[in-house]
Amino acid sequence: MCGIVGILGTEAVAGDLVEALKRLEYRGYDSAGIATIEGGKLDRRRAEGKLKNLALRLSNQPLQGRTGIGHTRWATHGKPVERNAHPHMNDKVAVVHNGIIENFRELRGELTKKGYAFETETDTETVLHLVTDNLKQGLKPVEAAHKALSRLRGAYALGIIFAADDDLMIAARQGPPLAIGHGEGVTYLGSDAIALAPFTSKITYLEDGDWAVLRRSGAEIFDLAGKPITRPTIVSTASSLTVDKGGYRHFMLKEIHQQPEVISHTIANYLDLAAGTVEFPDLGIDLKTLSRVTISACGTASYAGLVGKYWLERYARLPVDIDVASEYRYREAPLPENGLALFISQSGETADTMAALRYCKDGGQRIAAIVNVRTSTMARESHVVLPTLAGPEIGVASTKAFTCQLSVLACFAIAAGKARGHIGPEKERELVQALTQVPRLMSDILRDEKPYEHLGHRLTKARDVLYLGRGISFPIALEGALKLKELSYIHAEGYAAGELKHGPIALIEEGVPVIVVAPHDELFEKTVSNMQEVAARGGDIIFVSDAEDGAAGCKVIEHLHLPKAHPFTHPLMASIPVQLISYHTAVQMGTDVDQPRNLAKSVTVE
Ligand code: M6R
Repeated sequence: MCGIVGILGTEAVAGDLVEALKRLEYRGYDSAGIATIEGGKLDRRRAEGKLKNLALRLSNQPLQGRTGIGHTRWATHGKPVERNAHPHMNDKVAVVHNGIIENFRELRGELTKKGYAFETETDTETVLHLVTDNLKQGLKPVEAAHKALSRLRGAYALGIIFAADDDLMIAARQGPPLAIGHGEGVTYLGSDAIALAPFTSKITYLEDGDWAVLRRSGAEIFDLAGKPITRPTIVSTASSLTVDKGGYRHFMLKEIHQQPEVISHTIANYLDLAAGTVEFPDLGIDLKTLSRVTISACGTASYAGLVGKYWLERYARLPVDIDVASEYRYREAPLPENGLALFISQSGETADTMAALRYCKDGGQRIAAIVNVRTSTMARESHVVLPTLAGPEIGVASTKAFTCQLSVLACFAIAAGKARGHIGPEKERELVQALTQVPRLMSDILRDEKPYEHLGHRLTKARDVLYLGRGISFPIALEGALKLKELSYIHAEGYAAGELKHGPIALIEEGVPVIVVAPHDELFEKTVSNMQEVAARGGDIIFVSDAEDGAAGCKVIEHLHLPKAHPFTHPLMASIPVQLISYHTAVQMGTDVDQPRNLAKSVTVE
């Protein structure tokens, strides 16, 4: 998390730094700052809160330097106040950092003993003092930075500038992504190519352990031992256009409404719509003899993976081991020979998912990644990339990326079922046909948001909300609860409906809202029994279902009708109501829908 930019320019760079930071605000928005060098002196402006506060400060107190670095922060060490905002600097050096310096306590103790006074609670300040100390020992700026890097443990992407040389910037990567941009007599640094898209499309990605010396004339890259290395320069396709809300009140609402369109694009990439067949990319592995798939991801993406498990096991008879990446990476899970490991991520940069991917790659697995950002680290490190065609997702809460992930997984389940002999031509046509109807049926749900506004108003008064689902609806219950928590800050939990009487039923009392996701499938009657148990204890049931005759006699306070769809596609259909419930609750609560508190769009630290 945190976004980094840097420019070695030919005129004042503050405006362009802010422009680039705007494109990185998805990485954090606790505070922001920039520092530039002017007349051999470093100067900086910082502001707590959103980037607009920094822009305002700069308009009152401009910076004129032609060399500068900028940062948008997601706090790890130290409160999100101006004092802790980056860049951290003294009269010689300024530093921006994304990541966590794990040995910062030890370094802090050592530097304090040497007489360095720490002004912040951040781990980053240790980097500043280490470099400064090396300069004081007589090292030149490049050597001072290189020596400091050798002392750091943990994860970092760094940008460092020096008052004494305004044609120098040091960049270093160990974990979080970092890209160098090449312009005409101007060199750029950014956490991703998207930040640099308005200025250049010529991009060199640093790999883990790389550090680089940037000058206006270009960049030299080294490994940690100081040996020069070459990394390819590519032409990035990241768009320079800033995405707008397209007339919607929030990005999230726009993204919810884009789902019919982006799902059409995504499934068209994996299906032959005219023939009614699946056209899935060759994963470079024999799906017929495959013994198991390992799936790992975080947050919403992990719930997409859980839906994938139900699909793959049911339709392809393919066993799936799934876990959240933060657990999986340390589980030391045994891996099958010639196994397939599948990672799911909107950003393609999530630190835990990356670590799980590397564990499986080192363990000899074939690596496939379902990602939305095609230039991401995950896409670059996978053997096969399975893109979601969701387009940029700006709202921190994942919506269209989630349903596009589900779409790819559904196509994969059909392909695997076919390859393994469990889906014949007729069934294939039936399932492909079912998927092609999803965009139209979703549009039908999106046509009337009134019931959701009404429900949102009611939920603002809730202290706890339970989500229940059985079978393939269980992950949707988990996703619904996560969405409500992150957007409205109301406590919510998702449970497998059958688990209710093993504990959560104790929470039910008069008026507790219980949102039940219940497709009219072979498990419907069982879920209705669980609803009866809730109703008997005074819980308020909100029923999300395509059941035409209502909740089979059970009293519900609201029936959110889903159109009749093939049961295979139910998780896709039910995703829309759970998104709209949280969106409208958050709007009525007055929370920051697109940038909820304490969250970041891309979680590049553990
Ligand atoms: O970029 P990723 O898909 O890897 O991100 C994973 C999670 O951080 C993400 O889905 C998170 O849970 C969202 N805020 C949920 O809305």
